[in-house]
Amino acid sequence: MSSKRESVHGMWSSRAVFIMATVGSAVGLGNIWKFPYITGEYGGGAFVLVYLLCVALIGVPIMMAELLLGRRGRSSPISTMTRLAREEGSSPAWSLVGYSGVVAGFLILSFYSVIAGWALAYVFQAASGGLNGVSAEGSAKLFADLVGSPPRLLVWHTVFIVMTVAVVARGVRDGLERAVTILMPALFVMLLIMVGYAYLEGDFVRALDFLFDVNFAKVFEICTGSAEQLQCQFSGEPVLVAMGHAFFTLSLGMGAIMAYGAYVPDRASITGATITIAVADTVVALLAGMAIFPIVFASGLEPSAGPGLIFQTLPIAFGNMPGGQWFGTIFFILLVFAAWSSSISLVEPAVAWLVDSRGWRRGTAAAVVGMLAWTLGIGSVLSFNVWSGEDYQLFGRTIFDLKDFLASNVMLPLGGLMIALFVGYGAGRHMALDELAIRRQQLFDAWWLVIRFVSPVGIGIVFLNSIGVF
Ligand code: PFF
Repeated sequence: MSSKRESVHGMWSSRAVFIMATVGSAVGLGNIWKFPYITGEYGGGAFVLVYLLCVALIGVPIMMAELLLGRRGRSSPISTMTRLAREEGSSPAWSLVGYSGVVAGFLILSFYSVIAGWALAYVFQAASGGLNGVSAEGSAKLFADLVGSPPRLLVWHTVFIVMTVAVVARGVRDGLERAVTILMPALFVMLLIMVGYAYLEGDFVRALDFLFDVNFAKVFEICTGSAEQLQCQFSGEPVLVAMGHAFFTLSLGMGAIMAYGAYVPDRASITGATITIAVADTVVALLAGMAIFPIVFASGLEPSAGPGLIFQTLPIAFGNMPGGQWFGTIFFILLVFAAWSSSISLVEPAVAWLVDSRGWRRGTAAAVVGMLAWTLGIGSVLSFNVWSGEDYQLFGRTIFDLKDFLASNVMLPLGGLMIALFVGYGAGRHMALDELAIRRQQLFDAWWLVIRFVSPVGIGIVFLNSIGVF
């Protein structure tokens, strides 16, 4: 059975609450904002298929690994890795997994909060009737006005960081739990309504075709230019991005899930929880795609519009549906909540570490972490306006793009690789057997094979390919 350690940070009050909180971490802007726009950029069905394969073959096994490490160590990811490496007689260098996770959390929050700020701004746009009757051009202009204004972006970015710090400062039971239990199911219902609208009013058939028709040539191709003059090149980038997104959307590879695992009751089944979380996360992403692409095609917009995609398309739906002012307002409120329940897990590893290893008070730790992420976030704010030009880009990317690329496509998969290697090789088989307590031996053996060979080799191949080794 599991270790009998207690977490100093408190515990989830039940298995159901733990699942809600972890779904809260997984389901966020990644599903509703990022999945549709990168699917649009990388050409649709083939990308979706690779992403789904990465979730199943790499994401699910690694989530189980992160959860079992978290529960075994019952402290912040840095302390957990240090402690377990010592207990298992492995190198203390494994604690680097925890440190790199903290850095990735900062990087992600520093752009995540700017996008969540857009959603906050749209709550007020929608509620004040600003989206009523809006056309495709009107909606594009509203978006351009918002991202073109550094002061507006900065205000909403600040509001979102304060919201995140406020919840994390209150701790596991009072803060994190309460926020997620009602809001996640509400978001799900709202998405179903949006898919219903898209089915009735949008180009649903073309959207399904785009999302699910797999053209394998596209898996390794990047195409640029307009529809008439498309130029396509062989590249491993789509696969790297799909894998990075599998990590991002499931909150893996940076200790967020490990931190949440530390508060899991002893008897909860890690396997069952993981499958529930991965399925819920995937369903939400696919629903978001089915809500957005029918409108994209019906309004003559480009699927590859980039990060503004949902902010340019959904207002057209809200502006023109009966009761759209209400639906729009509620939708953006729920999007903010989805982002909120994810952002708290981005800072939890750093805050938990400052509390359990440095003896800081939770409130102070949360405030300091929030301030750092806020400062880093200024670069993301300016990426959409003052610093959007080529002069301010590095490797052809804005600061925003660069942070996203580095965190999602490099740091998270590397973190995941290290976690798989630690569980599969650094610690003994006994630890995994003990924590997972899977009754069917064949099931455990299959997972063990995947965590030791399939996931690490998969991640390795994608990395080598993306740096041009083959
Ligand atoms: N999973 C979140 C989303 O899809 O929006 C983002 C995220 C949260 C990534 C927490 C990483 C993390 F640790």
